Amino acid sequence: MPGADGWTNPLRSASDRRLPRIAGPSGLVIFGVTGDLSRKKLMPAVYDLANRGLLPPGFSLIGFARRDREDEDFAQLVHDAVREHARTEFREETWQQLAEGMRFVRGDFGDDEAFKKLRETVDELDASRGTGGNVAFYLSVPPKFFPKVVRQLKKHGLADAPEGSWRRAVIEKPFGRDLRSARELNALVHDVFAPDQVFRIDHYLGKETVQNILALRFANQMYEPVWNRSYVDHVQITMAEDIGIGGRAGYYDGIGAARDVIQNHLLQLLALTAMEEPLAFDAESLLTEKLKVLKSVRLPEELGEHTVFGQYGAGWQGGEKAVGYLQEDGIDPASKTDTYAAVKLEVDNRRWAGVPFYLRTGKRLGRRVTEIAVVFQRAPHSPFDSTATAELGTNVLVIRVQPDEGMTTRFGSKVPGTSMEIRDVTMDFAYGESFTEESPEAYERLILDVLLGDANLFPRTEEVEESWRILDPVEEYWETRGGPAQYTSGGWGPTEADEMLARDGRRWRRP
Ligand code: BG6
Repeated sequence: MPGADGWTNPLRSASDRRLPRIAGPSGLVIFGVTGDLSRKKLMPAVYDLANRGLLPPGFSLIGFARRDREDEDFAQLVHDAVREHARTEFREETWQQLAEGMRFVRGDFGDDEAFKKLRETVDELDASRGTGGNVAFYLSVPPKFFPKVVRQLKKHGLADAPEGSWRRAVIEKPFGRDLRSARELNALVHDVFAPDQVFRIDHYLGKETVQNILALRFANQMYEPVWNRSYVDHVQITMAEDIGIGGRAGYYDGIGAARDVIQNHLLQLLALTAMEEPLAFDAESLLTEKLKVLKSVRLPEELGEHTVFGQYGAGWQGGEKAVGYLQEDGIDPASKTDTYAAVKLEVDNRRWAGVPFYLRTGKRLGRRVTEIAVVFQRAPHSPFDSTATAELGTNVLVIRVQPDEGMTTRFGSKVPGTSMEIRDVTMDFAYGESFTEESPEAYERLILDVLLGDANLFPRTEEVEESWRILDPVEEYWETRGGPAQYTSGGWGPTEADEMLARDGRRWRRP
């Protein structure tokens, strides 16, 4: 719309405000291209980005994997992964264009010849497809291989960007297994890559609903005034999964639920929920505020009373019999690995003093749901008699991260009738009803951000280390215990977790 002076700023017109963000000339190298994550998420995300026209025409993709595969096998594998898991429709034209820029390098991570070949391939693609020498290396490999791959990239000169181009490393989680190992890994990574070259993936930050936490809080006026200890009783952050560990025994056993998702996804959700307003929506300002919150997180003194580790036993899930964790393929029958973890945390600052944040996650729970519930205090006074409010709970604002993305507010309302009776009702916002736009898959968003060099949605070294600082004492405590509490598959976790909240006079929500 023209301004008062009749001039229309082209950058602010309605159609331009949402200019697509398109990656410039570039290539992506995926280490561990035949793995689960790559097949289910990375390859389909690359295809979807290409299909949406968000990758440059000469975009190139190099898969690096074990030597016992032929090029045709690789191509078939990528093709199958795309057909099975991509979200956009399959178009032969997009596939052909992607396939032309696809190369495979076979070898082990310690194999110098393979890394020489990788370097030649990167140069060849620059010459033939015009990638401009811009390459992102995605380490979709078990954490124990991170150091080896990073060292090889350095040794073979792949981490050094030729004049006028960029090189970036994308590192999957978990980043270390405690503070000490995370520091060692950070030192190694930063010996090879500058901080702005490193992108640590936490795919929860790529989810629309997670990015919306800051929009909800800081683009509106009505939430911030009550977003503090004067109004909030406590916060519950739940990430429940109905699946077991599937074929991931090798990765999961010995890592467990707390390291797998509390150290990263759930602490990031806590940070976004509790942080102060950032100066701007940029990587530096976000880091500053998230880090302040993480630094002020304290564990309660009695860890035995305020944390619970659990492990699923047999049960019923979705009408089918489910085996217990110890009977899963590839699991040590004496394993003490946690598949459930619940932790009470305090955020020791003026806004949140005395407000507990309860975090819980588990596999093989009643259903798949991730949510942040901000539970408010009771109204300080009620003019209604106690029978009128007998069924009234407390106000709750629930950010529904997934599935059924949206938000619910619970509040009391008069029950229609001739007497005064007040009962809880809910008001919903659902993405599907309010928006026609489709949410990009988290990995799509994050891969595009890497190619654009946009670090807003990536945790930085300090955040990762601070999160381990929080979790380490809990892990150490549970290592000294007899083993995790048992819970039945298909239920809502160990009774110890219910007792943990009951001690504080509270209850977990049944989402
Ligand atoms: C991963 C964990 O980070 O997140 C998995 O390693 C978990 O164990 C997965 O299943 C869940 O992701 P999402 O996006 O389905 O909630």
